[in-house]
Amino acid sequence: MSDRGIEQRKADHLALVADGDVAFRRSSLLSCVELMHDALPELDTREVDLTTELAGKRLRAPLVIAGMTGGTDEAARLNKDLALVAQNAGVAFGLGSQRAMLVRPETAWTFEVRDVAPDVVLLANLGVVQAGQLAVAEVRKLCARVGADALCVHLNPGMELVQPGGDRDFRGALGTLARLRDGLELPIIVKETGCGLSPEVALRLRKLGITTVDVGGAGGTSWVGVETRRAEGAQRGIGEALWDWGVPTAVSVVGCARAGLETIATGGLRDGLDVARALALGARAAGLAAPLLKAHRDGGAPAAEALLGTLIETVRSVLVLTGCRRPEELTRRPRVILPPLRDWLEQLGLGGSGGKLVPDGP
Ligand SMILES: Cc1cc2nc3c(=O)[nH]c(=O)nc-3n(C[C@H](O)[C@H](O)[C@H](O)COP(=O)(O)O)c2cc1C
Repeated sequence: MSDRGIEQRKADHLALVADGDVAFRRSSLLSCVELMHDALPELDTREVDLTTELAGKRLRAPLVIAGMTGGTDEAARLNKDLALVAQNAGVAFGLGSQRAMLVRPETAWTFEVRDVAPDVVLLANLGVVQAGQLAVAEVRKLCARVGADALCVHLNPGMELVQPGGDRDFRGALGTLARLRDGLELPIIVKETGCGLSPEVALRLRKLGITTVDVGGAGGTSWVGVETRRAEGAQRGIGEALWDWGVPTAVSVVGCARAGLETIATGGLRDGLDVARALALGARAAGLAAPLLKAHRDGGAPAAEALLGTLIETVRSVLVLTGCRRPEELTRRPRVILPPLRDWLEQLGLGGSGGKLVPDGP
């Protein structure tokens, strides 16, 4: 794709997610997780400790502002504003795909946030296809340039198949991940971007020695949907048919946690209760993208900061109301799993009912 093409695509993406109708038409299935109210929690809200460890780094709350963008002036503003919000709240911040940096090195500054967020846990981002075309040393350089703490390697075959001019050859991804695992000093986070990681893929990644994943599950922003809006002709028809393709976020979280992976839940989380539900299913942390983009569009950095603050305080409230001092205790509290999530889990061999569904985490 031409340099201008990438820039235009990035601008289209932000506009379509902020203003267009590109959400999944079905749910993340997180609403099927009913946490049990504890009317006698016997704890002081101030005792609740939300700190957690992700990819070897400490977060003040189990949240991630998921990677979205870079490469344009508008993207640079968003990255800096949201990185500062993440820094102040002590949560992780993800950059969007750094492919733009590869094609047009002069756009590197649009990914640089360390001047405003020196301590934020910063996640670099590159597609597995692009990473496969680079020497490990070049990937290292991309990460070093932004001062990253970990590298998200994203998988997005669904989106690519619908994207005009997208990748069509998905061979060699496991080899690329193995090469990065061996050669890169930074932790690697394997990340889907909206179609989710199945329990079987989770096991393959675990076997490869990958330790952290972001499920990028179905139920939030549909990247097939985004590309369908940009596509024409046959490509558009394929996109319409596959709009809702993917593994729902809740299913993906259970599969990844059961595989022993440190799991970030993204894809359709819309409030602090969804975050708590994902933690209860075994996620180490949870991430949001589109809601923060929209808050920023409507009210700038203060609105994004307010949304993140509400998310964190809602998680704290849910911990109190379930009698938990720490986020990981949520996995051991009674809960009810409603259909259709219950059916998905049972048929995938991830079942057990109600409170017995406890992921065998790492
Ligand atoms: C505008 C936008 C751009 C995104 N760009 C990327 C990207 O470049 N790389 C990536 O790994 N994920 C990307 N994502 C996916 C998110 O990181 C995340 O996995 C997912 O969108 C979270 O779901 P949500 O938007 O429903 O909260 C993007 C998401 C949005 C909304």
